This record gives sequence, structure tokens and C-alpha cells, in this order.
Amino acid sequence: MAEGGKRLTGTVYGLGVGPGDPDLITVKGLRILEAAPVIAYPATMEGESTARAIVDTHLGNGKTELPLFIDISAGHAANAPNYDKAAAAISAHLEAGRDVAVLCEGDPFFYGSFSYLFARLAEDWPVEVVPGVSSLTACAAALGAPLAAGGDILTVLPASLDEKVLRQRMEEADGVAIIKIGRHFPKIAKVLEDAGLLANARYVERVGFADERSLPITEVKADEAPYFSMVLAHHRGEAWK
Ligand SMILES: C[S@@+](CC[C@H](N)C(=O)[O-])C[C@H]1O[C@@H](n2cnc3c(N)ncnc32)[C@H](O)[C@@H]1O
Repeated sequence: MAEGGKRLTGTVYGLGVGPGDPDLITVKGLRILEAAPVIAYPATMEGESTARAIVDTHLGNGKTELPLFIDISAGHAANAPNYDKAAAAISAHLEAGRDVAVLCEGDPFFYGSFSYLFARLAEDWPVEVVPGVSSLTACAAALGAPLAAGGDILTVLPASLDEKVLRQRMEEADGVAIIKIGRHFPKIAKVLEDAGLLANARYVERVGFADERSLPITEVKADEAPYFSMVLAHHRGEAWK
């Protein structure tokens, strides 16, 4: 009990790490990572965690690790029981007064699964979000391709969207970023062509990881684009023109 009988509980931190590169963490994020007694991270049902692997060299001894098992083959609605379980496991540490750092690849609030935990925790516990470097900006840097300039409209499109919607949004935008590509690559290549953007499109995968690579979009094999890949395109070719 704190003075005056008020209970001391822990704080949960949504902590941006990477993407890919362990050095892409803010000074604030590193400070919190070093201080937090409990480190939580999304993990596949088999226990693999990209976010955990990214911070491996930063983690000292004596941490309690809390893998949060999420079925990556299912959507967030199907994962609701997994998010409920994860939030309950985090809450138990908070209740006991321990801070919990939840690792998030890139930025927690840029299409991050952390938002589903935030929805379950923020009403009951102190939550602090520590922004990270999003894959959007990391991919632009890796490709040497400014995303947008001046009065440009930048549009971020999940590749799972319907072909018609993708095409319409691509035609309306100045700069376009296509995320979550994976098995949708053939559709994306077709829509880029239909929207007159194929010649301006740049492809990159696994930015910040040892096997990062970028290649002309016409050389990407249809079934080889990983989930961690992105296409950037700008109607003027370059945003500065
Ligand atoms: C669920 S979103 C999460 C984004 C993440 N919160 C962020 O701020 O980058 C996942 C998508 O981000 C992109 N992405 C994330 N990390 C990446 C990386 N290292 N290289 C390329 N694209 C990446 C891919 O398009 C991937 O499908």
C-alpha cells in the first residue's frame, strides 16, 4: 500500500521496437525496456516472436518474460480469446505492482496488434504508448523514396482490400504505400499496372533484418513476397518533383 492507503499498481508500456534493426529504438523506449521487470511480446502459437528477437541484444538478465500467444493465421476477431488471455496475464503483473513493457514491431499504433490490448487495458490501468519507427518510414528510408511532399495525399492500403477499392484509392492518391502484401502480391502487381503506377512502384522486404532486400517489382516472384514487405509508389515518380 502507498501512503494514504492508495494501492500502487504497475504501468503498461506499448513499446515500439525495430522494425527489424535493434538500433531503431528511441532513447525513451530503451530506458523503459531496461527498467521494466516484465517484458511481454506477441508470439506465434509455436512461441516465435519477431519483436522479442529484435530486442534480444538489449535485454539484460532477471526479466520476467511473458509471451502473448496470438494465432497469426486468424484475424483479430478470431483472436479475441487470445487477446483476452493476454490482457489478463498482463493485468496480473500490474495488479502486483510490476510494470510491463509490451514489445511492438515498428510503431504500436500503426496497424499494431497492440491496439487490441490497449482496448482491453486502458480503462483499468495506466497505459503509456512509446512511439517507434514505423515500417512506413523505415521502408521509405531503405528505398531512398520520400513518401510525400507539399500538399500530397499519402494513402496507406492493406493489400487484402478488394481490387476495385485498391485501384480507386491508388488513382486518387499522390503517394501510395501498400502493406501486408504476402500472398496478395499478384493482385497488387495487377492493380498497380491498371492504375498506371507500375513503373513508379518500388518493392522492399524485411527492412532492418539481415535478409532485407529491395528489387524491381517486375522481378518479384508471385508466391515469394513475405508478409513483411511493402510497395511504395508516387504518381510523380518522385515526391520532390
Ligand atoms: C500489422 S502491420 C504492423 C506495422 C507496424 N506496427 C509498424 O509500425 O510498422 C504489418 C505490416 O507492416 C509492414 N512491415 C512491418 N515490418 C516490416 C519490415 N521490417 N519490412 C517491411 N515491411 C514491414 C508490412 O507491410 C507488414 O505486412
